[in-house]
Order: sequence, then C-alpha cells, then structure tokens
Amino acid sequence: MALKTFSILSILIFLCVSIEAIRFDNYTLYKVLPKSLEEIKILEDLQNSGAEYDFWDDPVPTAEYINILSKPELKNDLENFMGSYGIDFLVTVPNIQKLIDNEKKGKYTRNNDKSMKWDEYYDLEDIYAWLDDLAAKFSQVSIIEGGTSYEGRVIKGIKISHGPDRRAVFIESGIHSREWIAPATTNYIINELLYSDNEEFKAATRDFDWYIFPVTNPDGYVWTHLPEGDRFWRKSRRPFGDQFGVDLNRNWNTNWLEKSSNLNPASNNYAGPGPFSEIEARSLSAYIIDMADKIDLYISFHSSGQILLLPFGNTTDPLANYYDAMWIGRRAIGALAFKHGTQYTIGNIAEAIYFATGTSVDWVKERLNIPLAYCYELRDKGVFGHALPPDQIKPTGEETMDSVIELVHQAKRLGYMVPYVEKSSASVLSVSILMYLVVAAKLFL
Ligand SMILES: *[C@@H]1O[C@H](CO)[C@@H](O)[C@H](O)[C@H]1NC(C)=O
Ligand SMILES: *[C@@H]1O[C@H](CO)[C@@H](O)[C@H](O)[C@H]1NC(C)=O
Ligand SMILES: [Zn+2]
Repeated sequence: MALKTFSILSILIFLCVSIEAIRFDNYTLYKVLPKSLEEIKILEDLQNSGAEYDFWDDPVPTAEYINILSKPELKNDLENFMGSYGIDFLVTVPNIQKLIDNEKKGKYTRNNDKSMKWDEYYDLEDIYAWLDDLAAKFSQVSIIEGGTSYEGRVIKGIKISHGPDRRAVFIESGIHSREWIAPATTNYIINELLYSDNEEFKAATRDFDWYIFPVTNPDGYVWTHLPEGDRFWRKSRRPFGDQFGVDLNRNWNTNWLEKSSNLNPASNNYAGPGPFSEIEARSLSAYIIDMADKIDLYISFHSSGQILLLPFGNTTDPLANYYDAMWIGRRAIGALAFKHGTQYTIGNIAEAIYFATGTSVDWVKERLNIPLAYCYELRDKGVFGHALPPDQIKPTGEETMDSVIELVHQAKRLGYMVPYVEKSSASVLSVSILMYLVVAAKLFL
C-alpha cells in the first residue's frame, strides 16, 4: 500500500516536472542597428563572450540589423552595454511569451484537407495527416519518405506528378525547427499547386514533378511544439553529453566546418561530429542523390530576413552560373514584391548574409550540379523574427508562391528548365503510319 502510494506520488511528481514548460515571460526581442564595422565587432565579441543572449542573427559585416532575444534578468545589462558603446537599438517585442500565447495552434480535421487554415500554425502530426489525406484524395499525389530522424520519425513529403518523364522541382523546408513560417509557406504552396485556378500555377504543376518536404527536421519541430519543449529550438535533438542537437544546415558534406559553424554542441551552429554525421541530413541527401538527374530547381525555405540566397556560402566569388542565377532570382524577388510590397535582397550566401558552409543548397550545387538552387529567408525583417504572427502566413504564402512561379518562368526562358510536352496524338499517328509503310515495303520488296 505504502509502496503503491509512493509510486503514484512519484508518477505525479514526474508528470508535473515533465510538463513544466520552458516559458519566455518578459523575454524581450531587440532589433540592434549597428552603424559601423566597429559596432558589429563589439556585438560579435558579445556573442562570443558566452553571455546568455540568443542571437537570432549573426553580427556580420553585411548585417543591417541583429535580432537578440534577452531573458528579463539580463535586459539591463544588455541595454547598458549598448548604451555605453552608443549602439542603436529598438525593442520590437517587449514580452515574447505574449506572442507565443497568441500563436493560434491549428487543429487539422482528418479527411478534410480543406480544414487546413492559413492563419494558424500546425504541429507535425497535423501536417503529416494532411499530406496523407492529400495523397488519398488526389491521384497525382503520393507520399514520399526522404529519410528518418534521430528519434525515429519519418521525413515525410509528397510528390505531385501528372505523368512520367517530367523534370523536377525539389522543395526542402523546416530544417531549422523554430522557423515555423517555412513549413507553413511550403504547405501553402502545396495547396496552391493542387487547388489554384491560376493558369500559370496549373501549368507549373502539370509540366514538372514536385517533390516537397515541409519538415526536414521533424524532431526539432516537435520539440518547438511540445509544452515541455522550447519554441525557439533551432537544431535537431540528438544528445551530446548534456547538450542536444546539431545545426542540420551545417552538416552537409560541402566545405564542412569551414564557416559559421563549430564543434561546440552547446552552440546553435554546431556542425556535428563530422560531415553527414546526422541521420536527417544524411538520409535526405541519399534520397536526393537517387533522383538528382531529374532536378532542375532546388529550393530551401528558412526565415527570416527577406533575402533570396544562392550558392556559395564559402566565398563571394561569382562561381558556377552565378550571373544567370542572379538574373532569374532578381525577377523572382520582383514578382514577390508585387502583391504585398515585401522587399527582398538577393545575393550568394556569403555576400548577402554571411559566410556559412555545410548547407544543403551548396551541397546540391557542388556535389550534384543541380542547375538552380535557392534558399529563401522568408519574412520578416527584424520585427518578429522567428515569432512571426500567424496572420502573416497567408500573405507570406501568396507572395512566395508568386516568386516560385516566377523562378520557374524565368528558368524556362533561359533554358534551365524544360517543361514536359505532351506527345500529340497526331505525331504518334504519323509515326505508326510510317512504321506500317516500312513493314509493308519490306514485305513486298
Ligand atoms: C513581467 O514583467 C511585469 C512588469 O514588469 C511583472 O509585473 C511580471 O510579474 C513579470 N512576469 C514574470 C513572469 O516575471
Ligand atoms: C568555395 O566552394 C566551392 C565549391 O565547393 C569551390 O569550388 C571553391 O573553390 C571554394 N572557394 C573558396 C575560396 O574556398
Ligand atoms: Zn534557417
């Protein structure tokens, strides 16, 4: 009896402890606006000092602003620090827990793919259920598995295909789990590809195969949704001593560990113990290798900063087809601005944002020679960052869809993408008549 009471008690205590949420009450989001390289250096030193600030952007020479999340106990220190060096800053979100509380969590209803809403964020289970329902509903849609995660989850995606012999567009998103707008935007694009009446969207769906993975870091994504998890978790969830996770977009086998990555498991840019050490990046890359000769266009979705990036991240040199890729990309960000006026910048990773290596877009470009590879840093530009309010999902989805379609359009014009052309029945007929004639000629001569 006593034992029983004891074990029930310990279960209760365990439950209480395990559902204790990581909360962000009175955590403040700052937008820091450095005016000079000296100020950027000072911020870089602060980031490297081990102080417990969460830098959402790295203080790099090209940085227009840097979002820093501070816990309440450290806010005074941070403000005094910046004050003492005359560094300008704004408070964009005084209490970020309030934004988290207002993040409407969607609830998807099984067998009703229209119950997916575009002003709510969904958890992994709902997204996967929605993909399953789309596959059941549309003959052109099938479920694909791009790999597995450390905790044993499938990296689930869908393939949209209107028939054989099509070139492919590959979309990978959610590799950084706290960037919730990325999977939401990817889902929006899937929905448009399947349901839109827009003739250009329909043609893109018909003329190419689409391989789409909304959440390529499923463990991390689940962790950002769990009550006992962490809304601002970026990495995977594999344990390393008392630390967790690898930055899966530093783990690809291309110039691994050279830039903006390190071997410290406590860091948000931990590159892992070796290139492709992580099952998520390794298994997804194996999937991509198997179909690489089909892919004309590779897209990776991240947030934030409103930047369209292209390879490479190790140098500002204009390597490979840089000028063509820039030309196409410029038109894509023009199309993106059309509906809501959202302004993007563009450049290769190293010139537009920072030197960073071991990323998926560099890997597909370097190792697989995929003609066009882009990485979107979606909305916004320093106000809400990773806590982008859900009322921005729909406009972000709309403008990004316009931009992706423009990528396809311009890539076709430059000959980088060749749409499928239906073999007309007339030509099939004339070929068969010709064959008859040949056979007949052989018989009679
Ligand atoms: C947050 O700050 C407000 C105002 O300073 C204070 O009243 C409140 O107790 C704080 N909340 C927490 C959970 O610390
Ligand atoms: C950058 O990476 C590319 C692709 O791996 C390589 O061809 C190039 O030589 C590298 N450049 C520098 C400066 O490291
Ligand atoms: Zn990211």
